[in-house]
Formats: sequence, structure tokens, C-alpha cells
Amino acid sequence: MHILFVTSEIYPLIKTGGLADVSGSLPLALRKLGADVRVLIPGYPSVLEKLQHTKVLAEFPSPAGNTAPARLLSAVMPDTALPLLVLDCPVLYNRSGGPYLAPTGRDWPDNAQRFGFLNQIGALLAGSATPLSWRPDVVHCNDWQSALIPALLHYSHAAHARSVVSVHNLAFQGNFDAQWIPRLGLPAASYQMHGVEFYGHFSFLKAGLYYADKITTVSRTYAAEIQTPEFGCGMEGLLQERHADLAGIVNGIDDDWNPARDSHLQKTYDYRTLGNKAANKLALQQELGLEPDADAPLLGLVSRLTHQKGIDLVLDCVHDLLQDGAQLAVLGTGETQFEHSLNQLVRRHPGRVSATIGYDEGLAHRVIAGSDIFLMPSRFEPCGLSQMYAMAYGTPPVVRRTGGLADTVTDCNAAALRDGSATGFVFEQAGATELLGTIRRALSVYRTPETWNALQSSGMQRDFSWQHAAEQYLAAYRSAMA
Ligand code: ADP
Ligand code: GLC
Repeated sequence: MHILFVTSEIYPLIKTGGLADVSGSLPLALRKLGADVRVLIPGYPSVLEKLQHTKVLAEFPSPAGNTAPARLLSAVMPDTALPLLVLDCPVLYNRSGGPYLAPTGRDWPDNAQRFGFLNQIGALLAGSATPLSWRPDVVHCNDWQSALIPALLHYSHAAHARSVVSVHNLAFQGNFDAQWIPRLGLPAASYQMHGVEFYGHFSFLKAGLYYADKITTVSRTYAAEIQTPEFGCGMEGLLQERHADLAGIVNGIDDDWNPARDSHLQKTYDYRTLGNKAANKLALQQELGLEPDADAPLLGLVSRLTHQKGIDLVLDCVHDLLQDGAQLAVLGTGETQFEHSLNQLVRRHPGRVSATIGYDEGLAHRVIAGSDIFLMPSRFEPCGLSQMYAMAYGTPPVVRRTGGLADTVTDCNAAALRDGSATGFVFEQAGATELLGTIRRALSVYRTPETWNALQSSGMQRDFSWQHAAEQYLAAYRSAMA
């Protein structure tokens, strides 16, 4: 089976969140199962810098006026040899700033064109007019940034691949002015409710959900949630109509996230040598300027600092937790108000709270390994990877029962403790009181070392590997082709 996997981020070349982790791992897991997967990605500066021996496969006129032509490059991922197709178009992608946001923190004003062009090339490679000799059976699109491809294929006259769209986060929809429709090669007739129109906008994600042969999302619970008004972000009606073509496939985690051979750590460990985890806690306390106290329960949080992630809930109960003797270590970037409140908290409680505002892959590993308890009180969470990293590192997570958090964390209730299935702490309502109560429940188990150890090792022995998910994606591709 030939699969063109289109994505706007891929670890370790460019990452803003979990989509990059998925794009870096899933194609490899699919290749292990025999699929010929190639990944199409924009040529951001960090992508081009990290790739060696690129080869020009094709050239296209620039999509933005009188500027240098765009080129399609072939390359392989360093270390894993995953085949990549890189769309090098300097006028669109060669900028200092994020893949989606300018340094001001605002969306790049020409995102419709930046990702529209990625979709046009994706659709070209998926059809009989492709300049390559390799032709995919299925094009796998991820989030709004590549969700226009199924619409472009629908309106193209060439024979073409089938399409699967994966929703990693329905809240990001890629909604733009309708003036972009002809500029991106779609007919005016596509701008209607049964098409790419979404409440008066031209929507990339709606296009994908409407025209894709199959839709997947990254957990079973989120697949059900997005068919309701509470989580559907206005797309629930369409998703209900398409429910027979919608599957929830829980993400796996990469082998790199393994405390037994993680080079970012002070001391490696597994469930049999959990004692070594203490050295990582001490090293983390030192690194972050926290009081080096082995007994103070250390709460860790690594996240985008946004409303989705329930950061405000943590801020609302942190004073009570500090009174209970806990410490807090936060690593993240995001909304200014949260960054600001966290910095203020550090000034008020030096040695007890640490907040690193920024993106730091190594520190993310050390926070997850060095903390005792991991906080992830998301209001919604399509899948979530960090809670799985935390369980794999013997750092039981406190999570809200939503999306992938509900599907991957087993609450430490009496029954689950008895049968050994408990891996963390789960609460229902997105409120600070509920969160505080649940963290306190976790703290009381933490103070019973034998039970705590059992909880840690049960999370560490869970199978979070990608193989199971990859098998389900192959099934989704097959059904798209049927
Ligand atoms: P989302 O994709 O919604 O942000 P996930 O839990 O799926 O949530 O994935 C988040 C990924 O981003 C994880 O790999 C996490 O470790 C990483 N991450 C988030 N914030 C940071 C940060 N500030 N520094 C380093 N890694 C981060
Ligand atoms: C999104 C979601 C997150 C998910 C990730 C990868 O960023 O917010 O829950 O784990 O995509 O699928």
C-alpha cells in the first residue's frame, strides 16, 4: 500500500505539539507493517537546515507573484531514514517565526495561501498528473492544514487516490475569507453548506470532513464527543452524518520516551529500579531552583498554556497545594495571561514554584521523569501524549475524564487498585475544587509508598506502543480504498 502522509509539523524537524510527535512516529510504525509511506511537509527553515542530501524532484511556478519558483525535494529523516517530500517555497515558508504564528503571536496573514499551496501540491501528487513515478493509493491528511486535499481531489478531473482526514484538534479549523476559493483552484460552486462553506467562511477542516473518504480522530471518546454540541465546535452535525465513516484511533508513544534509556535524564530507571527516579527529582529541583526536598511531593506540568489545557484550574488551586507542602514545576508557552500569572506565582513562592516559559525538549523529559505527579486537567483533549509519557515514566497523571485522557488513564479507585489496573487519577467536572480534591486524593496515595509503587509500575508496564494504532490506520486505509 502506498500512502502519502501530509502534515504541517514533524518531530524532530519542527514541532509545536502532539501532531509533530504523531507525524514522526506513525509513518514509521506503518512502514514496519509493510506500507510504503512518504511524508509531505513544508520546507520551513528548521526543516531544510536539518536535512542533508536533498534532491530536486520537481519545480512549480511560485504561487505568490513574481518570486522564486517552488521546488519539491526528496530527503530522508536523519536517524530513521523515513522518506520525506519537502515543499520548498521560500516566499511562503522561509520566515523566522513559528509554522503558524508570526513572532507577534498572531497567525501569519497569508496562512490560507501557505497551507493552500501545500494542499494543492498534495492533491497533485495524489493524482494522475503527478510529476513523480510514485503514486499513492491513499492520501492521509492531518488537521486543517492539509484537510483541503479531499476537496481539491473531488473537483479534479484526474484519477486520484482515496483520502483519510485525521482530526487532532477540532478547535483549529482553518477558516478563511471565501475570496481564497478560486485562488486555490476550487470552483465557486464548492462554496455551499454541502461543500467547503462553514458559517460564512471558507473552511479547510470542513472541506476535509465533508469530502474525505474516511475520517479518523485520535481517541474513541473524542470521536463520540465531537458529535455533540459541547465538543463539536459547530461541526457536530456533519460529523453525526458521517459517523459511519468516523473512527477513533488512540495514539501511541515513541520508543524515545523510555526512562530506561533516556539520555536527557540524570539517572535512567525502569519499574524494577524505581528507586533511581529519586535522583531525577533531586536533579530537577536543583536545575529549576526548587528547594531540594525529597519528601515534598513535586507536581509537574508540561503543556501549551491555554484554556484547553485547564491551566486556570491549576492556578486557582495552587495556593492550597503549596499549603499542603507540594512543589510545582511548569514548562510551557502560550497565552500571555497564563505566562504572566505563573511568573507572578514564582516571585511569590521562590523555591516552591518554578515556571519555565519556553519550549525545551530535554527539560520536558526531565520534568516528566523528576516529578511525582503529572497534571493534565484539560477541558478537552483529543488524545494527549504527555499523560502517556508520564505513566511510562512512573509519574501518575491527574487528568479530567475527556477524550484520550479518558481512554488512556485508569482511575486509582478501590477496584482498580485491587486488580492492578490503576494508573492515575481521573476527575469529571472542569473545576478547581474537583481538581484540588483529586490532587489531594493523589497525595494521600503518594504517602502510602507500597500502594504508590504499585500504581507507578502498573503505568510503566502499560503497552503504549504505536503498533496497535498503525494496524487500525491500515484498516482505515483499506476501507477508504474499498
Ligand atoms: P497538544 O498537542 O495538544 O499540545 P499533546 O499532549 O498531544 O498535546 O502533545 C504535546 C507535546 O508537546 C508533548 O510531546 C509535550 O511533551 C510537548 N510539549 C508541550 N509543551 C512543551 C514545552 N514547553 N517544551 C517542550 N515540549 C513541550
Ligand atoms: C492535538 C491534540 C492532542 C493530541 C495531538 C496528537 O494537538 O490537542 O490531544 O494528542 O493533537 O494527535
